[in-house]
Amino acid sequence: MSEHVIVTDEAGIRTIRMYRPEKKNALTLAMYEAMTAALESANTDDAVRCVLIAGIEGAFTAGNDLGDFLAAATGDGGFNRAALRFLPALVNCRKPMVACVSGVAVGIGTTMLLHCDFVVAATDATFSTPFVGLGLIPEAGSTLLVPRQMGQRRAFEFLVMGHPLNATRAKDLGLANLVVDPQDVDAQALRAAREIAALPPGAVAAARALMRGTSEELMARLDQEGKIFSERLRSPEAKAAFEAFFARKR
Ligand code: COA
Repeated sequence: MSEHVIVTDEAGIRTIRMYRPEKKNALTLAMYEAMTAALESANTDDAVRCVLIAGIEGAFTAGNDLGDFLAAATGDGGFNRAALRFLPALVNCRKPMVACVSGVAVGIGTTMLLHCDFVVAATDATFSTPFVGLGLIPEAGSTLLVPRQMGQRRAFEFLVMGHPLNATRAKDLGLANLVVDPQDVDAQALRAAREIAALPPGAVAAARALMRGTSEELMARLDQEGKIFSERLRSPEAKAAFEAFFARKR
């Protein structure tokens, strides 16, 4: 479906690896579609006991492809359908999700982690949510989850002012479980995934479902954020920010 997402199943672990090194794993529509399909099919595959979401060395993902954002800002409305299907797939994934973060985790690269159950970060990982600076708003339910996770003022600094977090700070604020050397990050994430996959799957599913609670509030927030995000995407502020990104090296 996309050569930029590699999905493999091994010993109960479905690994979804973003692989677009030349663009720091910026997410295209085809990548969202591939990731959505891999998450949705994991739900109904008893052989999958844990999902591992990974990037590459130095880049979990640089977030949404800004070229796609620019196309959406200038009237090509194809953007939202694929991206907006990915978010409910994350919220409604019934298998435990482990994430393995090395390097940049920008925008959705950070907000998708809010839905993961275990996050391993490399010491070089940076978590950033530059949505507002781009004329957009934070998405993926982050406007609900981040203030709950870290309190209003820290959430404002992170989500609105766009101040990035390094790996240690992210761990302190509860966004990551472990911080490890970059060369160990894949192995440590796999180790966590294997540990989860070895547990009784029915008990894992029941405990996890109770801990996550119903998804109604989150789904309603995704909907609310999605509507405002789509409006912001077409705003002159956003268009100017996307153009500035592509003009920066000229
Ligand atoms: N969309 C499209 N292309 C992107 C991208 C994105 N989100 N992020 C990086 N790229 C591309 C760059 O344009 C560059 O391509 P080029 O070599 O053809 O010029 C390539 O990936 C490498 O990026 P570069 O900026 O040279 O790497 P860097 O290490 O200096 O910086 C980032 C990495 C991630 C900090 C920087 O690329 C960045 O800020 N990207 C935008 C992130 C963003 O705003 N995402 C949307 C969030 S809502």
